[in-house]
Amino acid sequence: MAALGLIVMSNDWNRRHVLSLADFTPSEYDVVLQTANSFREVLSRRTKKVPTLQGQVVTNLFFEPSTRTRSSFELAAKRLSADILNFAPGSSSLTKGETILDTAKTYLAMGTDMMVIRHKEAGVPQAIAQEMDRLGVKVGILNAGDGQHEHPSQALLDLFTITTLLQPEAPRLKLLEGKKIAIVGDILHSRVARSNIWSLTASGAEVHLAGPPTLLPKLFADFVTAPKIGAVVPAATPAPRRLLLHWSLEPALEAADFVMTLRLQRERMTNHLLPTLREYHQQFGITRDRLKLCNPDVRVLHPGPVNRGVEISSDLMDDPQFSLISQQVTSGVAVRMALLFLMGGGKV
Ligand code: NCD
Repeated sequence: MAALGLIVMSNDWNRRHVLSLADFTPSEYDVVLQTANSFREVLSRRTKKVPTLQGQVVTNLFFEPSTRTRSSFELAAKRLSADILNFAPGSSSLTKGETILDTAKTYLAMGTDMMVIRHKEAGVPQAIAQEMDRLGVKVGILNAGDGQHEHPSQALLDLFTITTLLQPEAPRLKLLEGKKIAIVGDILHSRVARSNIWSLTASGAEVHLAGPPTLLPKLFADFVTAPKIGAVVPAATPAPRRLLLHWSLEPALEAADFVMTLRLQRERMTNHLLPTLREYHQQFGITRDRLKLCNPDVRVLHPGPVNRGVEISSDLMDDPQFSLISQQVTSGVAVRMALLFLMGGGKV
């Protein structure tokens, strides 16, 4: 990897799978950020391709719709010279009754080295990873969004977008120490929020969640402190994570450095959790006017897809002074190259 100037210490990364950020360590975040920054440099070259994963097979198993995540992983795999298989559930043998595990095993038998999995149910990527481990095969599983649970690569690209803005030549986790970050909107249904809560609170930032009580239940107050099933207590006690909840927007926005707004995930809403979209926009929609409460240098993030005029005003979304939305999409390719590279063994 000398051509990239990339040195990955063997003990900085030893994950075969990336399923959740709940147990990510500060040095793992930094390895991803540094590696992604090297790939960002590759992507700025005339020839944007490296032979790193030549001969390896990456399979995209997306059981749920996706525009940017699926395409971003596909482009990342191609830029690393891997062969990429794209599975489309509608035209697959799932329609003939094949189970998801059997679908995964079919791709395994074709020589897949890494599977990127999205599913509407929480836990599907974990279940496939367990089965691969049980079979003793060296296949890496990457969670590209499982139900309302997690979306690690999205939170990592958000972290990369923010930290490269703060220090382009050397992004690292601790640059966010002491920053105020507001996450606004449909927290209840958002896997993006759950993964971001882990990464942003690990950085030492103060994370403020804001949304109506129906979309931000009280149980989030314990999100980062509640015991996790099977969790291993780390040797060194980390600094306490700072997470605050608000059922109105203003206290979350006051002096915020970054505001992350989220889509209302109406496809996951089983009850009437909202008044009208207009009323929601009035209470929690992010607009240029509302940003006056924030730090003057505030920047706005949104994972996409966006409901213009609902969670964010259309003019703000397109305003390059504030909006980081297109940078997030661009960052996604470098961050996903980094993840595939690290999971693929981190060597040429
Ligand atoms: C998100 C997702 O699918 O979780 N989008 C994404 O991956 N960029 C958020 C959403 O669907 O609103």
